[in-house]
Amino acid sequence: MDNSRAQWGSKLGFILAAAGSAIGLGNIWKFPGRAFEGGGGTYVLIYLCMVIFLGAPLMLTELSIGRASQANVVGAFRNLEHKGWSWVGWVGVIGAFIITCYYSHVGGWVLRYVYGYAVEAPTIYADPLGYFYATLGLGADGNTFFPWVAILFAALFMVCNAVVIIRGVEGGIERFNKIGMPALFVILIVLLVRSVTLPGAEDGLKYMLSFDWDKVSFNTVLSALGQSFYSLSIGMAILITYGSYLPKAENLPKNTALICAMDTIVAIIAGFIIIPAVFATLGPDQVGKGGGFAFVSLAGVFESMPGGRLFGVLFYLLLLFAALTSCISLIESIVAFLTEHFSWGRKATTIWVCFVMFLIGCLYTCSQAAYPLKGIWYDAVNGVTFPALCDAMEFLTDRLMIPFCALGCCLFAGWVWKPESAIAEIEQHGVRFGLKKVYSVLVKFVAPVAILAILVLSLVTGTTLS
Ligand code: PHE
Repeated sequence: MDNSRAQWGSKLGFILAAAGSAIGLGNIWKFPGRAFEGGGGTYVLIYLCMVIFLGAPLMLTELSIGRASQANVVGAFRNLEHKGWSWVGWVGVIGAFIITCYYSHVGGWVLRYVYGYAVEAPTIYADPLGYFYATLGLGADGNTFFPWVAILFAALFMVCNAVVIIRGVEGGIERFNKIGMPALFVILIVLLVRSVTLPGAEDGLKYMLSFDWDKVSFNTVLSALGQSFYSLSIGMAILITYGSYLPKAENLPKNTALICAMDTIVAIIAGFIIIPAVFATLGPDQVGKGGGFAFVSLAGVFESMPGGRLFGVLFYLLLLFAALTSCISLIESIVAFLTEHFSWGRKATTIWVCFVMFLIGCLYTCSQAAYPLKGIWYDAVNGVTFPALCDAMEFLTDRLMIPFCALGCCLFAGWVWKPESAIAEIEQHGVRFGLKKVYSVLVKFVAPVAILAILVLSLVTGTTLS
């Protein structure tokens, strides 16, 4: 074992970094729209079940694999004497690579909006959709042009990530999260108070607390499952990397519970910020506008609330912190793999990897509105299709690679490495794990069956997962 391997400087540092990875665009941008479509309170309830019964055991599994092996995602399986399972790590690294290509560009849009609300809010208010499209290279007259604004901001966002990663685990990632995460919680609470006290917010609140089982379909359940994995950063083997930096005396089940709780609370608070605010200012028809939701629909909200511009800047700053801490975790797991596997230097690897991912991400941004770049996809309902490249990249990771890697992890932990080994790793230095029987059943039977169901059904029915 490599004694010089990096470690977290403190328990709080790790928790904040792992929570930082989990809390991201998924919580604040995707969750509220999905909660609205899935029937408000009903969706939240289903989502909670997914986190408790599938998300938490999988997170615990990834953390124990990482800490037991003291290696990056690919090396982890080799160090545990099961080299044949390294493919799980490969799926994780490649998935993280593809996600970072687009995640960093969406992060760039967020940065653009921080700037936009600070400097030219009236322009956004005048035509929210036009402003969004203009960022992406589509003019009001339908003409397309090179989306240099989006690309410039994505480059800036990527540079911020690289600077933190180059500084290392403790000096960079941990330190950044120690500042960014508390700031995020403060902004979240300020926005929550503002949103629920808006006149007319009660309808939105009622909706988020109502249980409308008629709105629940199989699709809702699948969507909650995919969303919970994405949101908890599971199935990307990131938590294997983060777990590998953890000291042996750390209590993994407690940390897992804390991280899951923080991630879920942020998602729910984001729902309670956005839905009541949109109900209060725009009316229910405007809620849940898919990808442009956080960028387009919210403009009307900020415009119509007193001090809206300030809250606009705060909101996008919040999203920016969340996106940065998640993106950092994605890049760290790729860099950890490359530096350990090929013995490359950390600084050069980080710069090169970030540069290549940024370039590929440019294709993602260009395919949003300006250029008809296509990917390829297959499902049993629609056969072979050629969706926009941006959609194809998201399908590939969210519908295929995340569930595939998660399935690999729990099959490995449940049947090859065995839950007993995970439990032995967990129960060191006097740590007691009261739920070990439940954990074994979940990881051996419940999780693999549920994940296999997602994988198969998403391909058979063409269901959107994330
Ligand atoms: N969990 C992050 C979010 O909610 C996204 C993410 C997925 C980060 C996978 C790392 C790995 O936005």
